[in-house]
Amino acid sequence: MAPAPRVPLADGASIPQLGYGLYKVPAADAARLCLDAIGAGYRHLDTAAFYGNEREVGEAVRASGLPRDELFVTSKVWKDDNGFDSALRAFDASMRRLALERLDLYLIHWPVPSTDRYVDTWRALVRLRDEGRVRSIGVSNFHAHHIERLVDETGETPVVNQVELHPWLPQTALREFDAARGIRTEAWSPLARGRVLGTPLLEALAAKHGRSSAQIVLRWHVQLGNLVIPKASSPQRIRENLDAFGFELDAADLAAIATLETGERTGRDPDDD
Ligand SMILES: NC(=O)c1ccc[n+]([C@@H]2O[C@H](COP(=O)([O-])OP(=O)(O)OC[C@H]3O[C@@H](n4cnc5c(N)ncnc54)[C@H](OP(=O)(O)O)[C@@H]3O)[C@@H](O)[C@H]2O)c1
Repeated sequence: MAPAPRVPLADGASIPQLGYGLYKVPAADAARLCLDAIGAGYRHLDTAAFYGNEREVGEAVRASGLPRDELFVTSKVWKDDNGFDSALRAFDASMRRLALERLDLYLIHWPVPSTDRYVDTWRALVRLRDEGRVRSIGVSNFHAHHIERLVDETGETPVVNQVELHPWLPQTALREFDAARGIRTEAWSPLARGRVLGTPLLEALAAKHGRSSAQIVLRWHVQLGNLVIPKASSPQRIRENLDAFGFELDAADLAAIATLETGERTGRDPDDD
């Protein structure tokens, strides 16, 4: 299958719009599933220190035989490592596990407002970017007010904000906030961990377009302009999820999907940490 198109980031880099998400992919399976994904046409892998599979992601990147520039790898600094020195150490540890010379995107995984260290973490990421050890830097699970604080205190705007986003939680206000500042919104749990897929409306749209419910939801993300990183555990689903580019939802389909909004989260509210 053709790789997902690359879209530009505000810092001059570009990122494949759809990637393979590795949360809860066991380390024992991760290298094989990443190679399945790369074989299917994925060029973007989303891991994190917390996922326990960075080593295997790095192995797959090397085993793929592709030029390093053709693959986009994201990792994230975990909550416990927020802070300047601890984030720098966490980055070194991630890079030792990945065994890659350079990372494409490094994100603050959660702001954890109760510890009030995310601005210091951000300063560490700015340093890593300025030293050329990571090409792009961004955040995850940041509300608008967390991003405003980063920009006010450092003058540096993240290029990506990876947040929970699916038809139950379309994050309309945050997407508008991000877009106005040149920040790409990236959808985690884009399928609401698979839970939204049996919705009769999505099944009806799937029948209308001759696609699966997962492809309908992923196409919705693509048309909203989201970066999107579905996780799947079989080669067949991995392939199915990449196939979200060869058809178009019309305005009535998009309006129907908008009625699914409930505000329900599958994960935590970032301000509750
Ligand atoms: N930054 C953060 O805090 C954060 C938090 C959560 C996730 N993430 C990232 O976002 C990625 C995706 O999120 P997620 O893994 O939570 O949820 P998700 O991608 O919304 O859903 C994954 C679930 O949907 C199922 N599924 C996938 N494709 C399917 C298909 N075509 N048909 C039917 N079922 C399908 C999977 O089943 P099988 O696995 O059994 O195939 C799995 O149970 C993660 O892997 C991670 O990279 C980031």
